[in-house]
Amino acid sequence: MTETSFATLNSKNEASENRLRPLTFSDFTGQAKTLERLQIMVGAAKERHEALNHILLSGPPGLGKTTLAHIVGNEMGSHVHVTSGPVIEKAADLAGLLTNLEEGDVLFIDEIHRLPKTVEEYLFSAMEDFCIDIMIDQGPNARSVRINVPRFTLLGATTRSGLLSAPLRTRFTLQTRLDYYTKEELAKIVLRSAHLLDIAMDEAGALEIASRSRGTPRIANNLILFARDFAQQRGNAIITQEMARQALQILDIDENGLNELDKRILFVLANNFQGKPTGLHTLSIAVGEEPDTLSEVHEPFLIQEGYLQRTPQGRQLTPKGWQVLKMQSHLQNWFEY
Ligand SMILES: Nc1ncnc2c1ncn2[C@@H]1O[C@H](COP(=O)(O)OP(=O)(O)OP(=O)(O)O)[C@@H](O)[C@H]1O
Ligand SMILES: [Mg+2]
Repeated sequence: MTETSFATLNSKNEASENRLRPLTFSDFTGQAKTLERLQIMVGAAKERHEALNHILLSGPPGLGKTTLAHIVGNEMGSHVHVTSGPVIEKAADLAGLLTNLEEGDVLFIDEIHRLPKTVEEYLFSAMEDFCIDIMIDQGPNARSVRINVPRFTLLGATTRSGLLSAPLRTRFTLQTRLDYYTKEELAKIVLRSAHLLDIAMDEAGALEIASRSRGTPRIANNLILFARDFAQQRGNAIITQEMARQALQILDIDENGLNELDKRILFVLANNFQGKPTGLHTLSIAVGEEPDTLSEVHEPFLIQEGYLQRTPQGRQLTPKGWQVLKMQSHLQNWFEY
């Protein structure tokens, strides 16, 4: 692993998404429970002048895991080193990362569920005893060398905490899950982003975008950018409710926030399989999307909103799922197979 695989908080090549990231706890809207837990831990660690204990953030994409990791680092006044599970291929990569840390630094491992199992084992002792034993040489010359690691904080993020091994999961002092945002919380986030991007928008416009963003700030931010383009092209300076509605119609996002793929999933469950429980792989082939995308991105929202349920036999529409399909009488037009 080379030095370039580190990205620090102030790294030059931050994605434009970062512009909208809140930098402090007070700037962060929603996730009240998680926020309270983090504030308690950060406050106490700072008072004791100690490194923060290890924290695992889980939840669907775009809800603020990376954002919170940076906020925690920022609030601690610590340097944040960013990496991700699949990038750390061998124990030596991990050793390289850990030995570059300084006392109190935060190591953020995104997609931590994709850390190879062999590497995971080295991480245990680093998290618990702040040292790692690695093997040097092979055959008769093989010997184990102990490397001490500074007291650091591991912040793990995952969309699939269920895939983490129990020994790894239990080594995090705090495991906290982010939930979808309410419409009101999202509207606040939308107005904040619009303000930062210098976009004129009224409250009704913000609420309209918020209610169609699947409870997800990243989606809300993307919709704001599209609404801005729409308003610019159609000659309206301010994003009002009507303006937002027209823009989102062009994107095929309905008033429930369901996008084209969500609707295709519901439609396939209703039509192709006559409402019988359907396995993930069958469904993924029928809608033409990767199983992981279905189970990590689309299903959590459809389940939370009550359109779909997971049964031991497979995925099945709920009465609410059927209802929303019935209301879409022009449905056939969307799905030209
Ligand atoms: N509470 C919030 N307030 C304002 N903006 C937010 C909030 N949460 C997330 N965002 C915005 O949403 C975007 C996505 O957040 P983030 O990258 O932290 O999500 P994530 O959970 O790490 O997603 P992934 O699992 O895909 O990595 C960021 O640009 C951030 O600005
Ligand atoms: Mg992230």
